[in-house]
Order: sequence, then structure tokens, then C-alpha cells
Amino acid sequence: ADAAVRRGDLAGRRVVVTSGGTREPLDPVRFLGNRSSGKQGRALAAAAAARGAQVTLVTSVPTELAGVDVVTIETALQLRDAVVAATADADAVVMAAAVADFRPADYAPTKIKKSHDTADDGSADESAPTITLVRNPDILAELVTSRGSATSPVIVGFAAETGDDTGSVLDHGRAKLERKGCDVLVVNEVGVDKTFGADDNTVTILRRGSDETVEVGPASKAAVADAVWDAVTDLL
Ligand code: CTP
Ligand code: CA
Repeated sequence: ADAAVRRGDLAGRRVVVTSGGTREPLDPVRFLGNRSSGKQGRALAAAAAARGAQVTLVTSVPTELAGVDVVTIETALQLRDAVVAATADADAVVMAAAVADFRPADYAPTKIKKSHDTADDGSADESAPTITLVRNPDILAELVTSRGSATSPVIVGFAAETGDDTGSVLDHGRAKLERKGCDVLVVNEVGVDKTFGADDNTVTILRRGSDETVEVGPASKAAVADAVWDAVTDLL
């Protein structure tokens, strides 16, 4: 659809978009994070607002965006709470956030020092600490499991993949779509020099139950966003 046709095609719809990488704190000054810039999610929110939707953007990247309710979060658990609250009466949810799969099991309320006294003889312990991780909830999978028949938003996932010995980027994408049970999966190939922080993106859009793929790009993240909303509006 071209821009003129699209304009207003999300009018009266409520959509939720997540973006950015979550930050999982170790202590007051340190966190485990990832390279997500939040730009694709921001473009998705802007595109939905331009097409008439009422938009909530749940993001780790503080931002202001005309016509968009921004909820700033830091951790995966906070993102889950914000998404669940915003999704109650939503028509679509797009999970573009790079949610940390794990978080540190313990949070140190004071800064972790590189050298600390041992309990017994008072001598300094110079050993490197071991960080124990625990799993974060899979928010996308939870959204799929918890959607009722009365309120059933279209659910879109993103998959950042690198190909490996066990399969190509697309193989991993298809397997992930089946595993997650979402309606649409937007697959992109990543690497330190690809996608992260860039203004352009190249993606393949997969639909559950369909062998058709839509390839977009290299294109602006705004153009990718419009292609994602095209896939969503087809399902609304
Ligand atoms: N996602 C989520 N909650 C998580 C992890 C991921 O909601 N704890 C969402 C992401 O926002 C994305 C989709 O799931 O929309 C796919 O994320 P991805 O990291 O590619 O998938 P995983 O299932 O975590 O698989 P893996 O990292 O092992 O490839
Ligand atoms: Ca993951």
C-alpha cells in the first residue's frame, strides 16, 4: 500500500510497541545490556501514530514522540509489567525490544568492589566474582499464551539472528515463529556491523501458517515499520 492509502488505516486502533534493549542491574552502577538502539521500535511507534493509531511505546531509550504515550522501563520485569498493562485493550502488540533472556540472580545494593575483605582473617580477596544468572520471563510467549478470545491482539515478534552450523537466518526465524506462536515474525540478520544503531534495516516478514515471505530493504527503519504495519492491518 502506498502512503496515501495507508494514511488513517490504523485510526481507532490501540497498539503497543516495545523497543530498546533491557538493562539488568548488577549493582547501582552496572548492568548487563545489549546493542539494541531502539530505533526500529521508535520508527514503528511513529509510523503507527502517523496511520492514526493510539500508540504506547514501552522502551528503555527515553524519547519523546508526538502522539505517542512513552513508558520508560529498564529491566525485562518492568517491561513485562508495562506491556501487560498497556495490552489489556490493544489491537496489536509489536515486540521490537531486545529483552534480556537472563538477569543477575542477585542485585548488590552497594557498588561491588574489586577487592573485598574476607570474613575470617581480614585479608583482601582479589578473586574475580562469578555472576549467577536466572531466566527472565519470555514476554512474547506469555502474551501468546494469555490472549483470550474476547481480546486477541495481533502479536508481532522480532528475531535478530545470525546464521550458524544448525541453520540459516531464515531457518532460525521459521523455527522461532513456530515456537513462539505469534502471528507475525520480523527476522533480521545481525552482527556487530549489521543493523544495531543503523538507520537502515533489512528484514524478512514471516506469517504463521503461510509460506509467503515479504522481504524489505535495505530500507529506512521507517519503511520497514510501514511494511510491518501492512502485515498487521491485513490481520486486523
Ligand atoms: N522476547 C520476549 N521476552 C524475552 C525474550 C525475547 O518477549 N525474555 C521477544 C523479543 O522481544 C522478540 C522475540 O521474543 O520479539 C524474539 O526474541 P529472540 O531473542 O530472538 O528469541 P528468544 O526466544 O529469546 O531466542 P534466542 O535468544 O535463544 O534466539
Ligand atoms: Ca533472546
